[in-house]
Amino acid sequence: MIVCVCNRVSDRDIHRLVAEGASTFEEVQMATGAATCCGCCETCARETFEDAQHQHHRVHANWIPIHPAPAVTVHAAVAREGDPRHDFVMA
Ligand code: FES
Repeated sequence: MIVCVCNRVSDRDIHRLVAEGASTFEEVQMATGAATCCGCCETCARETFEDAQHQHHRVHANWIPIHPAPAVTVHAAVAREGDPRHDFVMA
C-alpha cells in the first residue's frame, strides 16, 4: 500500500527501514521523504511506522535460539607465545 503519494513511499518501505534499524519517524522521513511534501500522509505514515516498530520488536522479543552458539574454545596449541590469546589460555 502506498502511504505517501508525493514520494511514492509504501508501508513495506517503512517496515523495511524499521527492520534495518530506523528508530525514529524522522529517520524514515530522511530516508524516504515520507510526509515531507504536502503532509497529507503524515498520520498514516506515523501509524505505519509505529506499527512496524511494534511488529519488529515483537519478532525480536520472541526469538529463541534453537541452537545455542557453541562455546569458543582456544586451544593451547593455537595460542603461541606472542599471540594475544596466549595469556588467556595460560591463565
Ligand atoms: S502524500 Fe506524503 S507528503 Fe504528500
